[in-house]
Amino acid sequence: MRITFKNLTSIYHQNTPFEHLALNDINTTFEEGVYYGIIGHTGSGKSTMIQTLNGLLLPSRGEVHAGDILLRRKSKQKDIHRVKKHVGMVFQFPEHQLFEETVLKDVMFGPKNMGMDETVAQEKAEYYLDLLNIDASLFQSSPFDLSGGQMRKVAIAGILAMEPEVLILDEPTAGLDPKSHIETMALFKRIHQEMGITVILVTHDMNDVYEYTEYVKILSGGHLVREGRTTDLLTDEKLLERFALEPPDIVKLTHDLENKGIIFDSVPRNVEQFTELYEEWRAGNA
Ligand SMILES: Nc1ncnc2c1ncn2[C@@H]1O[C@H](COP(=O)(O)OP(=O)(O)OP(=O)(O)O)[C@@H](O)[C@H]1O
Ligand SMILES: [Mg+2]
Repeated sequence: MRITFKNLTSIYHQNTPFEHLALNDINTTFEEGVYYGIIGHTGSGKSTMIQTLNGLLLPSRGEVHAGDILLRRKSKQKDIHRVKKHVGMVFQFPEHQLFEETVLKDVMFGPKNMGMDETVAQEKAEYYLDLLNIDASLFQSSPFDLSGGQMRKVAIAGILAMEPEVLILDEPTAGLDPKSHIETMALFKRIHQEMGITVILVTHDMNDVYEYTEYVKILSGGHLVREGRTTDLLTDEKLLERFALEPPDIVKLTHDLENKGIIFDSVPRNVEQFTELYEEWRAGNA
């Protein structure tokens, strides 16, 4: 599903003394099957943008076209529901939204709410719990008896079980230990590749944006200031500095080495590529 914003403006508490312009006249498209990053300083409008993507917030002005569905200021509940069916959202600390008596019931809740019958919902729930390495022996446990990391996996399984075409992740690794962090990001990568769905990652972790996303959109003060290939924008330290964003560690390191006369043919994307390029450089300069 392709999603396009047309002159989208989002204002909180419109026509009150607390009126606040959060997104200002945004025109942009999220193409099908692409892994996007949305970055920007705190308060730049990232969360507002993604809530507008799935109908949680309606535009104050302008339009959102999600496939053949049009969302505007006064859109009907029916259209909002149709968008939510296709655009899944993993909030920050999704485990806070668990509520059912058992793990299985919790994961089945979304699919059932979307209209799937009991048997199909259960099949989907079991499939995605398994994909997330939640052992079947835990299906009848209370979600509140699980570890923090397991609770988060159950919450994510609940979103995946609805089989969204677009998956939005708002700071999905906040508060996770380093190992769970890597596992979670690897999982989203696999889902993106194997299921071919669009993934939209919102995070302050520039290393993740650099390693996993294909395209990025940069927000600043409610404006969409730049969009383009991740490898172009995140290696541009001057650009990042202008919008108070840290360059990814690997980009910093590569540029530091350049200043010392160690110049690679390209900027590596991750530690493996870095090691390869360094070995190549050493072989050529021995
Ligand atoms: N419910 C709300 N009511 C009023 N203003 C809000 C509300 N939510 C957000 N804002 C304001 O709108 C602007 C954009 O907020 P948003 O949450 O979209 O930013 P963000 O980029 O997600 O920030 P962060 O990186 O801190 O999560 C900010 O100035 C924020 O204070
Ligand atoms: Mg936010």
